[in-house]
Amino acid sequence: MTSSTPQTPVHVINYDAGGYDYRDFWQGRDYEQWAEVHVIRRILRRTTPVQWAVDLGGGFGRNVPLELERAQHVVLMDYSWTNLQNAEHNLLADGQNTGRVFLVRGNIYHLPFRDASFELGSTIRVLHHLAATNDAIAEMSRVIGQHWLLDVPIKHHLLARMKAAVRGKGSALRTRDANELGNKDEPFWNYHLGAIRDEVRAQGWSDSLVASVANFRRWERAVPRPLRGPVRPLVYGAERLAQPMGRGWWGPAQFLWLTKRQQQAFADSESVLGTPPAAVAALAPRLWCPSCHGNLTWTDASATCTACAKPFTRQGMIWDFVVE
Ligand SMILES: C[S@@+](CC[C@H](N)C(=O)[O-])C[C@H]1O[C@@H](n2cnc3c(N)ncnc32)[C@H](O)[C@@H]1O
Ligand SMILES: [Zn+2]
Repeated sequence: MTSSTPQTPVHVINYDAGGYDYRDFWQGRDYEQWAEVHVIRRILRRTTPVQWAVDLGGGFGRNVPLELERAQHVVLMDYSWTNLQNAEHNLLADGQNTGRVFLVRGNIYHLPFRDASFELGSTIRVLHHLAATNDAIAEMSRVIGQHWLLDVPIKHHLLARMKAAVRGKGSALRTRDANELGNKDEPFWNYHLGAIRDEVRAQGWSDSLVASVANFRRWERAVPRPLRGPVRPLVYGAERLAQPMGRGWWGPAQFLWLTKRQQQAFADSESVLGTPPAAVAALAPRLWCPSCHGNLTWTDASATCTACAKPFTRQGMIWDFVVE
């Protein structure tokens, strides 16, 4: 076993509960969307084009078009059926994405991908959901061979420090432990940036802190509606400046660009048994059983582990590799 994933199950947030559709979150968030596009495009240009990229916890594929600018193949991996089905309708409706975009339902703690399957990975707006943070980092790290864009939600951003100072609780933001927020049913975490940087370094990455992102999150709320139009270009201009200037202290989302110290290329072990359908054939060599890491025997409708006999099936173009 090369996996370092937890042996005991870790709760996974269910984005599908109550009919939730994550696309709704993005209504009226043009500035945050723009801020992320700006940084992701800028940073991904640091790589030469790659063959395979993975978006871990990629939701409905918001960032896949940007990843397709740098990668020939992009695998969107997420736990949520709704998000993946939305991705299927939007991304795969475009014939140009046939054979380039793949949809995998999976769990970050037990990924169905072989070691170093992808030259490039991204994990954006996901870390705050991952209770067993270090296990998740280790497992994501395992499947990426060269470069990784990791968005870290920090607890010691400017607004949090100002609020804590008012309440006389500033010292809690300086400790290296994660800060638990949310509620019992939907907890989430934000982090001390130094603690996450130490963890990724321990997993074999060189890290570069490349941007503080969405430094003026929800700015519209502070500006009366009639003034929003004229203020908007100023906010966007300020965000451009704050992304480099605010690294490590300003915004709630800090982007790390990680480069594996010992870069790994995917070793195709020719372990594909049976005949996968054409739509997943290019990805099949990179997949294994997420439970025991056995090889898979493929038919048009399923992939079955040769070691533990677990079957994995598909709904439409979405392959389900979640082990419940
Ligand atoms: C806030 S959304 C972000 C989606 C996407 N990265 C984006 O920026 O638009 C968080 C996503 O992480 C996924 N997620 C959370 N925990 C996960 C886990 N353990 N395994 C797989 N996906 C997970 C959720 O299903 C959800 O789609
Ligand atoms: Zn198995």
